[in-house]
Amino acid sequence: MLRRLHHEQPASFAFTPANLEWAKGQITKYPEGRQASAIIPLLWRAQEQEGWLTRPAIEAVADMLGMAYIRALEVATFYFMFQLAPVGTVAHVQVCGTTSCMICGAEDLIGVCKEKIAGSAHKLSADGKFSWEEVECLGSCANAPMVQIGKDYYEDLTADKLRWILDELAAGRVPTPGPQNGRFTSEPKSGLTSLTEGERSEKANGSVARALALGDTVKRIDGTEVPLLTPWLKDDKPRAETRADGKPVSSRLGKVPADKAADIEANATIPAEKAGQPPAQPEAAAAAVQPAAGAASATAQAEPGAPVLDSQPEDDVPPGGVVIPESEQVRPEALQAARGGKADDLKRIKGIGPKLEVLCNRLGFYHFDQIAAWTPQEIAWVDQNLEGFKGRVTRDQWVAQAKLLASGQDTDFSRRVDKGDVY
Ligand code: FES
Repeated sequence: MLRRLHHEQPASFAFTPANLEWAKGQITKYPEGRQASAIIPLLWRAQEQEGWLTRPAIEAVADMLGMAYIRALEVATFYFMFQLAPVGTVAHVQVCGTTSCMICGAEDLIGVCKEKIAGSAHKLSADGKFSWEEVECLGSCANAPMVQIGKDYYEDLTADKLRWILDELAAGRVPTPGPQNGRFTSEPKSGLTSLTEGERSEKANGSVARALALGDTVKRIDGTEVPLLTPWLKDDKPRAETRADGKPVSSRLGKVPADKAADIEANATIPAEKAGQPPAQPEAAAAAVQPAAGAASATAQAEPGAPVLDSQPEDDVPPGGVVIPESEQVRPEALQAARGGKADDLKRIKGIGPKLEVLCNRLGFYHFDQIAAWTPQEIAWVDQNLEGFKGRVTRDQWVAQAKLLASGQDTDFSRRVDKGDVY
């Protein structure tokens, strides 16, 4: 599946105070200059807090770590553990569909998900409480078939067991994770054949015991439910001043320097306009539809919070395109607002995401027929004035797509957008 950010995003993101403390603690694990290494735990905590990973959350984490947004996006869109679209408010069920689980009944589990949650993956149940997806091997093959819910594994499942688990979760109860057929771990189903002496004192295996201790499987984690496990921050003193070889230890053993902590604090939230929202002042939008003369510089000034989410290098020129000198470029006719107050969904054009749609609207382009009518000189102007996205009109053939959409036809991409397969 194409992993894209969801088309609807909240305006902003902020860690809860407790989660922010936790996040700052995680950052101190890494040596100075290597804070970006904390990106996965921070993105994971943001997801645990919100249920899914929103664009403002990704950008806020990138800001905390001093990373370019595109670097954080590379991580968030690569790993399937990160949910880029809303998931069920109670539980998102990840069904392993790889060989061992498939042989042992994963398809039956998927059938239960289709029956009780939604007919297809990544869709919410009617009450919004559940969602599901099929994933690749989760490393619990000896306890196949299995599903992951939140942090926990439910193993040795049958269709009936999974139905029961979903019913329990819907009723507000959290079934004990781990093997569901009486096994302790992954010993033979017929019982142990060695190490049989003595009685086992533990009631559950290590990971199940840990899950029961944390008790946070299906909750949104606001940081107050679980102890903040940052033992390396317990005292003010560094654990050691030097290593055995006499070199200084890295800063991870000490506290966050005050100035660094202030930076992290300052970057912990992301203002709505930086999250790609239109500017609050109508004058800014009006400034973006100045007459053609001097338009390039006027536009640049009107876009102080220009989106950088999907930014490409400034020299990203259209492949194979004819270079039209700036003096011959023409600004297309722009509108002050969408006709009838309703803009077309420009995201149905492949290559236009939420940020570019906002940018297009700021430039006065709201409708497919506007884009469909652009001349080569106008395309060259727009290509040059898409801050951070130069060359996108040509590269992604917006005009050809817009012509089809303006005439009421679909493209393969717009069909996928309409089906909700692109997010
Ligand atoms: S095949 Fe399902 S956990 Fe490995």
